[in-house]
Amino acid sequence: MSDNAQRYAVFGHPIAHSLSPRIHRAFAAQFGHDIDYRAIDTPEADFVQQLSAFRAGGGVGANVTLPLKGLAFAACAQVSDGAARSGAVNTLEALPGAGWRGHNTDGPGLIADLTARQGLDLRSRDVLLLGAGGAAQGVVHALLEAGVRNLTLTNRTPTRADALADRIGQPGRVHVRYWNDLATSGSYNLVINATAAGVTGGSIDLPFAMVAPRALCYDLSYGKAATSFLAWARAAGAAQALDGLGMLVDQAALAFEIWFGRRPDADAVFAVLRAELDA
Ligand code: ATR
Repeated sequence: MSDNAQRYAVFGHPIAHSLSPRIHRAFAAQFGHDIDYRAIDTPEADFVQQLSAFRAGGGVGANVTLPLKGLAFAACAQVSDGAARSGAVNTLEALPGAGWRGHNTDGPGLIADLTARQGLDLRSRDVLLLGAGGAAQGVVHALLEAGVRNLTLTNRTPTRADALADRIGQPGRVHVRYWNDLATSGSYNLVINATAAGVTGGSIDLPFAMVAPRALCYDLSYGKAATSFLAWARAAGAAQALDGLGMLVDQAALAFEIWFGRRPDADAVFAVLRAELDA
């Protein structure tokens, strides 16, 4: 069904509820063609073997989501500069012959949503990033490159925030604060939730004082997983509380462009998914 029977997929675990197949089929339809894009449920132990089987069966491009982005990075013969900096790969592009080139479109997807869709000027933003795991790691460099004024990292387990700040290596602009000291460590006009709390059913119970007037609070996840953080943000008086649906669609658009060399209309697909999620 696809161009020359080329196959595309998203690998993850769990993956059943992924919107990626719908998003990529909608992008392909904008150019009048079908895409053979499937969701492949892949536990970590099976990833390398599943990826080889996918390639052998005509796989030429893939997205990779939790918990496989670090494994995907390790599986690549080449990686883009952005993927090298983040140590994680969310987009695989088949190299001629054999092997994969890895990209990370998560960070650029977040920046596209914040700037092009939401119209934010990031240079006036003091950013507080909650979490120091894989999701946080995927966006820190893009935020810094986009020119945020400064970036403060905080994590429930402080050593992981310290380690992330050390890896970034920009002590002038990147600071670490203890999770338990946030009531007294200033306020921020962009607060980004990169923790897995909403996904695992936990909640963020942080002091409202860290949310500055006119702040934007943004959750990297979307739908149900973002509900608890966004409710907290509204209670804290945030001017805007947004989930990561825009980032999801924008990172997909960047992956599509890597594979096909054409930029799809992400806004049209975002509008449909937004309306469905809000209904
Ligand atoms: P991901 O790839 O989603 O970032 P991860 O690498 O396992 O997954 O990281 C999960 C992040 O969510 C970590 O920052 C974790 O904090 P710890 O390092 O202290 O574990 C954070 N996290 C998970 N549940 C949380 C909760 N209930 N409250 C606060 N932080 C939480």
